Amino acid sequence: MNIYENQSLKAHNTFGIDCQTRYFAKFQSEQDAIELLKRCTSPLLILGGGSNILLTQDFPGTVLKNEIKGIEIIEESDIHTTVKVGGGEVWHDFVLWSIEQGLSGIENLSLIPGSVGAAPMQNIGAYGVEISAVFQRLDAISIVQQEKRVFNNPQCQFGYRSSIFKGDLKGKYVITYVYFRLNKKPNNNTSYGAILSELSKMGVKNPSVQDISTAVINIRERKLPNPRDIGNSGSFFKNPIIPIEKFFEVQKKYPHIVGYTVSDSQKKVAAGWLIEQAGWKGYRKGDAGIHENHALVLVNYGTANGMELMQLSKEVQTSVWNMFGIALEAEVNIISHQM
Ligand code: EPU
Repeated sequence: MNIYENQSLKAHNTFGIDCQTRYFAKFQSEQDAIELLKRCTSPLLILGGGSNILLTQDFPGTVLKNEIKGIEIIEESDIHTTVKVGGGEVWHDFVLWSIEQGLSGIENLSLIPGSVGAAPMQNIGAYGVEISAVFQRLDAISIVQQEKRVFNNPQCQFGYRSSIFKGDLKGKYVITYVYFRLNKKPNNNTSYGAILSELSKMGVKNPSVQDISTAVINIRERKLPNPRDIGNSGSFFKNPIIPIEKFFEVQKKYPHIVGYTVSDSQKKVAAGWLIEQAGWKGYRKGDAGIHENHALVLVNYGTANGMELMQLSKEVQTSVWNMFGIALEAEVNIISHQM
């Protein structure tokens, strides 16, 4: 295993930020990961697809890239197939594999950028489905003791775009393998309005798993910029969850506010709507901007640096707070270690 010095991370983050790391190495097995953890200089950053990070400075320690591959069926019953997937697999490749096998459960999560190992960290979700619904367990290695540990579904403490790996255990484990329990019979979730209208546009009445995936891909390609063309990390902020009283108070002034019921006492508000109302959609300063088709997506048109994007995100937060009294929280992990 080679450890490289002073490497650019531009190709390893979907924002396309040109920061350097002091040391860089890749691992293709659990054994290699353990070896590297023993040898490497801290601080440490474990990278998957780099699709949910904003690098704001050069990194003074070691970046380890998870390249553990492999998709393996390990158990089958009449209704389920359990699959073990290497953390370094590309998420969308795994979705396509599951569709080819006729398995259902993750088709709504088509085209989400990133790797399989990073997916449980933020409980990736889209179009009415989160991976917690099909997640069975994961294998991980503790960074300090270099010991293997299994986390089952409840132990991951999944929530909306969150898990224990973004909370109490942040920076403490490397996720090596993820196990999913997929359905042999289609278990369609087309409750999300945009999927239904896309399927009807496609002329599909009884959608297959493949049809739902195609519908999701169509919607995403229309609305969300492809990181290969414009640097971005998907939704930059979470949709804020606020008390229902607060929602009704804002709704009196802004009757078109977009919100979804979470519980008797809470509403989730479409952050994209708030940001658009605050006038940011399509904004651009230098190469940092807010995407013209989706106000929740910060973009790097080429040479923006992480500080500029972070500054822009702060301005958006302040203006949304001043207009609605609603706080926006970043969904993207902001990495800021000083050299
Ligand atoms: N909206 C606007 N203006 C905008 C964007 C959105 O008014 O510029 C309003 C629209 O009314 C729209 C509503 O917001 O109906 C919701 O928009 P959308 O369906 O695009 O979903 P979202 O809530 O903005 C979330 C996820 C996305 C996921 C979609 C679809 C979060 C933070 N984001 O976005 O996930 O693809 O739902 O399920 O929960 C990601 O995490 O990177 C991501 C892209």
